[in-house]
Amino acid sequence: MIPDIHEEVAIGKVYDAALVRRLWPYLRVHWRLIAFALLLIPLYSLVQALPGPLIGTALDALIGVGPSEELGWLAALADPPGDLPQIPWISFLLFLAMAIGAGVEYARMLSMTVMGQRALRQIRGDLFDHVQRLPLRFFDSYPVGRLVTRLGNDIESVGEMFYSGLVQLVADLFVMILFASLLFWIDWRLALVAMVAVPMLAGAAVILRWKVRQVYRLVRLKIARINAQLQETITGMKVVQLFARERRNYEEFREVNKEHRDAWITSINYDSLLSAAVEMAVNLTIAFILWYGALRIGRGELGLGVLYVFVDYMRRFYRPLQDLSAKYSVMQSSMASLERIYQLLDEEPEAHELGQAPQQVRGEIVFENVTFAYKDELVLRDVSFRVAPGERIALVGHTGSGKTTVLKLLLRLYEPQAGRILVDGLDIRAIPRRDLRRHMAFVLQDVFLFTGELGYNIGLGQAPQSEVRLPRVPFTSRTSCAGCRMATPSR
Ligand SMILES: Nc1ncnc2c1ncn2[C@@H]1O[C@H](COP(=O)(O)OP(=O)(O)OP(=O)(O)O)[C@@H](O)[C@H]1O
Ligand SMILES: [Mg+2]
Repeated sequence: MIPDIHEEVAIGKVYDAALVRRLWPYLRVHWRLIAFALLLIPLYSLVQALPGPLIGTALDALIGVGPSEELGWLAALADPPGDLPQIPWISFLLFLAMAIGAGVEYARMLSMTVMGQRALRQIRGDLFDHVQRLPLRFFDSYPVGRLVTRLGNDIESVGEMFYSGLVQLVADLFVMILFASLLFWIDWRLALVAMVAVPMLAGAAVILRWKVRQVYRLVRLKIARINAQLQETITGMKVVQLFARERRNYEEFREVNKEHRDAWITSINYDSLLSAAVEMAVNLTIAFILWYGALRIGRGELGLGVLYVFVDYMRRFYRPLQDLSAKYSVMQSSMASLERIYQLLDEEPEAHELGQAPQQVRGEIVFENVTFAYKDELVLRDVSFRVAPGERIALVGHTGSGKTTVLKLLLRLYEPQAGRILVDGLDIRAIPRRDLRRHMAFVLQDVFLFTGELGYNIGLGQAPQSEVRLPRVPFTSRTSCAGCRMATPSR
């Protein structure tokens, strides 16, 4: 089983003002792009309002009645200048409206995506920089898989909020208000009929939303577990294969994989239900409007063109509701990711240090009553010793006795709980970590190679590549090593 350490608590908020406020510095620099996208919204909505009356007026003209009065200036738009024939003129206007609409949509998408990607790049960079400055203590208890999720999936998910979240929500709201107003302006009685479904849909949305939230939380948990298991299996592949764990790992993975699928299917189920409910409500309303509209057309109270405009506007009014639940889950996942990113950003980094490094180091090392524990269990208790400059010493002890720990303390990778460590009589806490480490060479017990050439790993930012020499001596059983003595295990 994957330990519970990988299971994160999902956060259920859809919108959290405090979280979004913290995003502001990242967005502020791009205010021009945001303003541009927001300014396009009215234009985008107005362009959507044009085809209805144009086609409605064309219909009226085709059946030989004049333009509907109720459409007012909307119908006046369809009046051809001079003595141009009306229908081709309307077709031309329709084409124009669609071309403008496409242009506006293009500009809107592009500006939001560019803004989002720029902000994301900044956040990702800050997070990476921050993670590198966290104390080693932090990495002892934070699984790598989770860190990678933070820097990858979570950042992406915040990005979605930029593209399809915030500005899109403003646009949706604008469109709904605009079309509702237009509907009431054209014919308030018909408009009331058109709005009948709204309270019903709101009720359905609230109930389904609550369900979606719960399932969504489950999906996140399963994703975290899948990621954790993938990461651990891949990093530990040597162990997995050595101990022939493949079969059992696969069984475990299959279980999580299945739970993830089930959670997803449930969430899609609710999503589809909401979508279908909106679709049904819209169609029922249209049927109702047709019936009621036909009655009034019969009484000569209403033109055919108006009825067409009505149906068209009503569809546009309901459209944003249709994918509400999809937007809802985008916002929810973005908020959850944002919160996790902030949790990570709030981890205290190693303090920025002042102080001056000694130019020349003689190399005297003194441990004075050093006591240290990684967590609760003491690894070093009251350790004191002195190493004179130039002196060579070896720390000998059984495995796990704390030899490496002594070196980690000397390098200030960890800080002792009590006692102090002196280099040339100077408390190492007064020496900036960078400077302290520059004076020491540390060969790790477990070699870690970064991806790339061996030479790159040897130089690793310290020596220029030209100074790295790699001997090309293939190892054979006869390769002798000067100064090596074969150790024979004693029985
Ligand atoms: N990051 C860590 N978090 C918690 N405990 C740790 C951590 N690193 C080491 N320990 C524990 O501290 C103790 C001392 O570890 P250390 O690596 O210093 O031993 P060592 O003497 O170098 O052993 P070896 O001879 O195997 O290299 C061990 O019990 C080890 O399990
Ligand atoms: Mg060791």
